[in-house]
This record gives sequence, C-alpha cells and structure tokens, in this order.
Amino acid sequence: MQTYIVLPYEKHRQIPDEFHDDDNRTPESLVEFFISQFTQPGDIVFDPFAGLGTTLLVAEEMSRVPFGIEADEQRYEYVRSQLTMKDNIILGDSRNLDKFNLPRIDFVFTSPIFMRCDETENPLSGFREPGTYQDYLDQLQDIFRKLRGSLKPGAKVIVEAFNLGATSKRPMTLLAWDVARALSGALKFEKEIIACWEGTGRTDTQHIYGYNHSYCLMFDSK
Ligand SMILES: C[S@@+](CC[C@H](N)C(=O)[O-])C[C@H]1O[C@@H](n2cnc3c(N)ncnc32)[C@H](O)[C@@H]1O
Repeated sequence: MQTYIVLPYEKHRQIPDEFHDDDNRTPESLVEFFISQFTQPGDIVFDPFAGLGTTLLVAEEMSRVPFGIEADEQRYEYVRSQLTMKDNIILGDSRNLDKFNLPRIDFVFTSPIFMRCDETENPLSGFREPGTYQDYLDQLQDIFRKLRGSLKPGAKVIVEAFNLGATSKRPMTLLAWDVARALSGALKFEKEIIACWEGTGRTDTQHIYGYNHSYCLMFDSK
C-alpha cells in the first residue's frame, strides 16, 4: 500500500449552524479511502470519537454497518438523526468502552479529540477534569487497549492525527508521533500513511494546525 495519498479536502454534508464554529470533521474522502481499502459490504465499522459522524455516515452510505461513541450530547443527537441505524451511536465516554455492549468490529477509523502539550484540562473529559498531556496519552492508550477485546482478528485500526505547530505563544505538540507511541502499547503499529489535501479548504487546516497534511496511523488488532 502506498504510504502517502492525495485526496480532495471535501466536506459535502451540510451541518446545522450551531456546529459551524467548531467544525472539526474529517474529510469524507479520507474515510471513504480507508473503508474501501479494508472492508467489505456488511462489515462493522467503528469510531470511538464519532464527532459529527463522518465515519458512521460514510460507512452506512457504503453499505457497511456503522457503530460509534460520542460524548457530546448535541453531536450525538445530530448523528443519530442522520443515521438509518439510529441505535448504532452510543452517547457516552469512550474511556468506558468496555462497559458498552459493542459487537465484534471489522474496522476502526477515528480522529480522536486532540490536546496541546501545554494544556491542563483533559479533553477526554469534555475539558471538565484537570489533566496533563501525559494523562491524556495514557487514557487514549487505555481506550485502545479496551477496544482490542472487541476487534475481530486481523481488524485494522486507523487513527488520524496531526502534529500541532507552534504559535507565538505555544510550543509545538508532536501529537501524531506521541499518539503513535502511546497506542503502540495497546495495538500493533504497522505504518503511517500521510494524507495530503488538494483543492478547497487546504488553507483552513494549515491555518489551524500549522500543517496541511495529516498522519493516518495504522494498527493491527495484534
Ligand atoms: C475530532 S472530533 C471527531 C470528528 C469526526 N471524525 C467527524 O468527522 O465528525 C472528536 C470528537 O470526540 C468527542 N470526544 C471527546 N472525548 C470523548 C470521549 N471521552 N468519549 C467519546 N467521545 C469523545 C468530541 O466530543 C468530538 O466530537
């Protein structure tokens, strides 16, 4: 498999106005690419950080069975309203993933909520609990360790992450590399695939993160 891909930066789906200021969706083209590569119709595709549901909605459109967890109630309600398989999105905290009655999963695509290394509130708690960057990485590792028990043998897990560029006031966060290292403690790290963007929207991502490519970290269920 090629280790870099170039895809259109497209988000076709219209979302309600309330989400426009915090539209951190994954481009649909990226999800489509990996679902095509690693799944067949009827397979179960899971996202533990469902957000506005790109993984689940694309999976359903491609005749796969979507499953996901989302902690934010408004986002959960929106995704639920868009899915045909409405009960396949769970409102909850992925840190408790082992408490949910998940099916056996064929494939995972996810973009976890990110944290900068100088932040002091844990994004995995909805920024409600204090926590260091190391706490965040440890908890992410724990989520993927719990996930391992629900994966079918040979299931691939793709985690999209960025490094976060320095700003005038903030240090660089090597998020993609730190996430790769942390999750390697839970799953078998196989390779990174670098996603580059063509077309509209590219400058937006560069503006936010300092880069216009992302790392798709590929793991095997071990
Ligand atoms: C980067 S967004 C995912 C975007 C998604 N890929 C999409 O295209 O819409 C990360 C999501 O993780 C959710 N989240 C954060 N902590 C969580 C947790 N502990 N359990 C489940 N969801 C969580 C956030 O509310 C946010 O919607």
